[in-house]
Amino acid sequence: MRYSPLVERISGEGSKAWRLHFKATQAALAGEDVIVMSVGDPDFQTPRRVVDRAIEALNDGDTHYTSVDGRLDLRTAIASDHQARSGQRVGPENVVTLAGAQCAIYSAMQCIAGPGDEIIVPEPAYVTYEATVQAPGPKFVTVPQPATGGFRPDLEGIRAAVTENTRAIFFATPNNPTGIVMNRGELEAIAEIAIAHDLWVISDEVYAALTFDAPHISIASLPGMAERTVTASSLSKSHAMTGWRVGWVVAPAEMARHVAKLALCMLYGLPGFIQEAAVEALTNCTDDVEEGRDIYRRRRDLALAQLAEVQRIKCLIPEAGMFLMVDISGTGLSTDEFCTQLYEKTGVSVLNATAFGPTADGHVRLSFAVSDDMIAEGCKRIKGFVSGL
Ligand SMILES: Cc1ncc(COP(=O)(O)O)c(C=O)c1O
Repeated sequence: MRYSPLVERISGEGSKAWRLHFKATQAALAGEDVIVMSVGDPDFQTPRRVVDRAIEALNDGDTHYTSVDGRLDLRTAIASDHQARSGQRVGPENVVTLAGAQCAIYSAMQCIAGPGDEIIVPEPAYVTYEATVQAPGPKFVTVPQPATGGFRPDLEGIRAAVTENTRAIFFATPNNPTGIVMNRGELEAIAEIAIAHDLWVISDEVYAALTFDAPHISIASLPGMAERTVTASSLSKSHAMTGWRVGWVVAPAEMARHVAKLALCMLYGLPGFIQEAAVEALTNCTDDVEEGRDIYRRRRDLALAQLAEVQRIKCLIPEAGMFLMVDISGTGLSTDEFCTQLYEKTGVSVLNATAFGPTADGHVRLSFAVSDDMIAEGCKRIKGFVSGL
């Protein structure tokens, strides 16, 4: 049978790095002694009051079609949350709810770019970005952010990548996998490039609530940026709600209307009971979010302290999020060999960071989405493995 060209554009495998993760997950389900530190799905529960609110709404019969762009209450709660976090003045007319930040980014890309266009993405970048950019037809133009510079943005590289076909600069801050939080100077430089070349910026801020040391800044709050920025976020990481699929775009009102039209022909709105639960999450769960962030910070510090004792590996201190990048190039193993042998010999599954781009070669990504005990045990096994090489 014949398929559309889209099928080709989204067919990149991501990476074989995930195969080891899936193997480890299967082994964990089968009760084997494995420690899965390769994925970023929070290990703690969605706040109880959010679950209760969903159940209440279900019992009240909130099981029908709802407004496609999101109920006013929810869009208002998202706008308030975004405004409080970023300082950018927005209202419900700037918000469209979608099925997670992934769906939000996909939708923004569909409305911004098409065949012949180019989207600049600093790399390493989150694994889905390539297919998400390519789906509507643009070229995925990556700019390496070298490990030697701590994976911080290479602003000259980004500037040099702009051509007459560039439509947008697209990045995540805080970043997955590096845990880098872009600082004001870096964001101002990107803003200046975007304004000079009349570009969109798509800012993925799913980890914004989970910053430890550096403050999170939304590029949309910088002068001249509100009208050219789409901010995507969700409740997945901040509220341990990955499976609920609640995300959104915050965008100029005109852009929001286009995204809403796309939502009409693609998603037709989030379930009502989920939207009610999302309002609860955004309005009454500040303590839960802070508690989650403190847990990740504690686990980060635990992992850093344990791995600091290990010769031949180096950790990049994450400023935010739930991941730790570890430079394993000093072990003499390739990244793939390190991951495979570590798993086979110790049962610890970490992710080959080249899944996020070639610049991350020589690094593995560890997740803090497992208990403190598991982190301690996982790091102990990593230490044993590296010492035995
Ligand atoms: C940087 C980044 N963006 C987007 C997503 C997708 O999040 P969501 O569950 O809201 O679709 C993830 C998930 O891991 C992520 O790490």
